[in-house]
Amino acid sequence: MHRWSGNDVTAVPEELEELRNWQSRLRAQFPIVTGNPELVYLDSAATAQKPQVVLDAAWTYLTTSNANAGRATYPWANRTTALVEHARDRIKEFLHDPAPTRSSTHFTSGTTEGLRTIPRDWLPSYLADGDEIVIPEADHQANIAPWLEAQQLLDRQGVRIRILRMPYQAGSGDYDHRDLAELVGPRTRFVAATHVHHVYGADMNIHRVRRAVGPEAVICLDAAQSVGHLPVSVTDLDVDFVVFSGHKALALPGTGAVWARQARGPAFRPGGWSGTPNTVGIASLTTALDWLDAVGLGRIERWTVALTARLTEGLRHLDAYEVLGCQTSLAADSTVQRRRGIVAFRHREITSGDLGFILFSHGFMVRSDSHCQGSAGEKTGSVRVSLHLHNTPDEIDRLLSVLRTLQ
Ligand SMILES: Cc1ncc(COP(=O)(O)O)c(C=O)c1O
Repeated sequence: MHRWSGNDVTAVPEELEELRNWQSRLRAQFPIVTGNPELVYLDSAATAQKPQVVLDAAWTYLTTSNANAGRATYPWANRTTALVEHARDRIKEFLHDPAPTRSSTHFTSGTTEGLRTIPRDWLPSYLADGDEIVIPEADHQANIAPWLEAQQLLDRQGVRIRILRMPYQAGSGDYDHRDLAELVGPRTRFVAATHVHHVYGADMNIHRVRRAVGPEAVICLDAAQSVGHLPVSVTDLDVDFVVFSGHKALALPGTGAVWARQARGPAFRPGGWSGTPNTVGIASLTTALDWLDAVGLGRIERWTVALTARLTEGLRHLDAYEVLGCQTSLAADSTVQRRRGIVAFRHREITSGDLGFILFSHGFMVRSDSHCQGSAGEKTGSVRVSLHLHNTPDEIDRLLSVLRTLQ
């Protein structure tokens, strides 16, 4: 593979060159991107832009079949019911859940709501007094707060559970899997993990988490930053829950799902009457997953990882910036160069809030603040650049050139 050398940030490595035609055809399918050539969207980790097929799916559903699901028997209602049922199967297939397995899929408004349903509706029936759970305190708050609340809830019922903090290396933005293996014991029954970190873009290596915690513990995966960005296989990862946001995977806002396997614990049955589902969102989600599979998640991953490497390589030569989660090494062959489409950095003198405004004055839309990170994470704000397949090497180069002028 092509290796970066020296200050050569304008060269296009083979990876990007090979995928360039494929990518430009796909970029042209994002109306908000092509309609705003002066702007560069670099905030896909917050929510993703939508390709035309997804917009069409929403329009078609609303103009041909809009009705409630599972309630009536006229054709629009039947079509809507079938659409919702099909979406459940489609999610299983998308996550490489080999049918028929004892698994289920539940729709939510996003990862936050999905992660909340598990401690509310499942964890209390699984844990016993004295059990331990592992939580990732350097990750997104959405994957921390629900587990702390669950501890309090169980406590009130006289069930005391211990919370273990996932060991984490600030130097690489990665979990410390060796320390994790030392930390866990026979009473560790549940692990809240994250697939790709929302600030560092680091792949948390779920295989190593599984090896560290053993074959019996339930692993719940926050896949908000991986579903729609790279192949996610529940079979390969050997996880028990996958929670994701459809809106970060190119579907409409207000979409998401919990996939639950029922092998290591009781069945997951979200309680309560959930009312009318977000049918148009679900229609858009099925189409988004179809589109992503057709486009190829492996190629999307290769493209965004190569673009991210281009950005970190460029930043490596700009002394005024500190890249988060890799104080130790930004060398071209270090693992931090394999970030999954997300890079956070700060200027040593300009505040991140100001940097966000300055970048927007040049047309770049980035996220700038503390990124909802848990207490073990960064204490100071930063600018986060997050990519999807519509982004281009040229956009990265233009960003780097603005950052260079701010040195
Ligand atoms: C890792 C991670 N988990 C959870 C969430 C929350 O997702 P949502 O706002 O869609 O509920 C995010 C959002 O950025 C995230 O990055």
